[in-house]
Amino acid sequence: MGAQQVADRFAELYGAAPEGVWAAPGRVNLIGEHTDYNDGFVMPFALPHQAVAAVSRRTDGVLRLHSDDIGGGVVQLGLADLAPGTDREWTAYPAGVVWALREAGHEITGADVHLSSTVPTGAGLSSSAALEVVIALALSDLYGLGLPRWKLARLCQRAENVYVGAPTGIMDQTASACCEQGHALFLDTRDLSQRQIPFDLAAEGLRLLVVDTQVKHAHSGGEYGKRRAGCEKGAALLGVDALRDIPYDGLDAALARLGDEEEVVRLVRHVVTEDQRVERTVALLHAGETRAIGPVLTEGHASLRDDFRISCPELDLVVDTALAHGALGARMTGGGFGGSAIVLAEATDVDTLTKAVQEAFAAAAFTAPRVFEAVPAAGARRLA
Ligand code: GLA
Repeated sequence: MGAQQVADRFAELYGAAPEGVWAAPGRVNLIGEHTDYNDGFVMPFALPHQAVAAVSRRTDGVLRLHSDDIGGGVVQLGLADLAPGTDREWTAYPAGVVWALREAGHEITGADVHLSSTVPTGAGLSSSAALEVVIALALSDLYGLGLPRWKLARLCQRAENVYVGAPTGIMDQTASACCEQGHALFLDTRDLSQRQIPFDLAAEGLRLLVVDTQVKHAHSGGEYGKRRAGCEKGAALLGVDALRDIPYDGLDAALARLGDEEEVVRLVRHVVTEDQRVERTVALLHAGETRAIGPVLTEGHASLRDDFRISCPELDLVVDTALAHGALGARMTGGGFGGSAIVLAEATDVDTLTKAVQEAFAAAAFTAPRVFEAVPAAGARRLA
């Protein structure tokens, strides 16, 4: 939805034009899955799908939130009443950001907000991070907080971890806040240092498809947290701060030290090899060998499926079908247990591939997937 439409709807709801309109995108992760809470590497890029927010300040300690995406009227909350774990609705994301800003000592005295998002929810494409980041940026601008992008991301992650109660890492919020058009973001989640990596597939006759399996997931459920706890256990057993600290050539020795901790062995193996896959991907892109990243993506899928065990039949079907029909590489993307897969393919193979995936889903009696092409879009910004 365009900035003007969102502003018009705001004016209809609240009786005056908003002070401004901001946007923050969803993301797709090219490679680097479940590495972000292990201080490792990730490489997401922003989607053109985005959350748009029209916002004005208030001075009376009231937060009013509205979205037509969800239905229902304007939700009114008192800033003094905002407390972690009290809200199980979509409003927890924007309210959590206001809570996190205030908790960090920023004087926010209220806001009127109208939100509209085109990021598919529960699809592993960071719809929640988009909602968080758009509010954080709007309030930082309006209240003159001047917060750098990485700090906005940290505050949004705190909102998600503490207020919403989902123990996620820092990738999604940083992607939404920091990505640049035409680039993938190579992010070191230990210190948030970043490099924008040019990623123009069309120029090379390639396409990246996102296949949303329509299997919904949620990270406030237990499985994501269990994987995270397993990784932390691995780091503790190995005497390192985070799994990031295990050198690639020390992996075998580390696994041997874990002995019969079979589950921890699998989790550690995924994380360490996945960090290496991110670095391999960056090196290949740097060398102009874009097609060669395909097998690296596919290896990543096998690792998530067999070692991390967070794939599902629908995601595996996308990957297997795509590879059988000429894809250069394919893997699940995001937190797992549903959501989306990505497929790297020659532009000339896209139609055949898409049809094959759709037919395979129909034959398996799965809900029809949603397929679209992903082109790296801009990160969060002010629109009006
Ligand atoms: C979700 C989380 C991220 C990250 C991914 C897996 O998207 O929000 O922090 O852990 O899963 O890579």
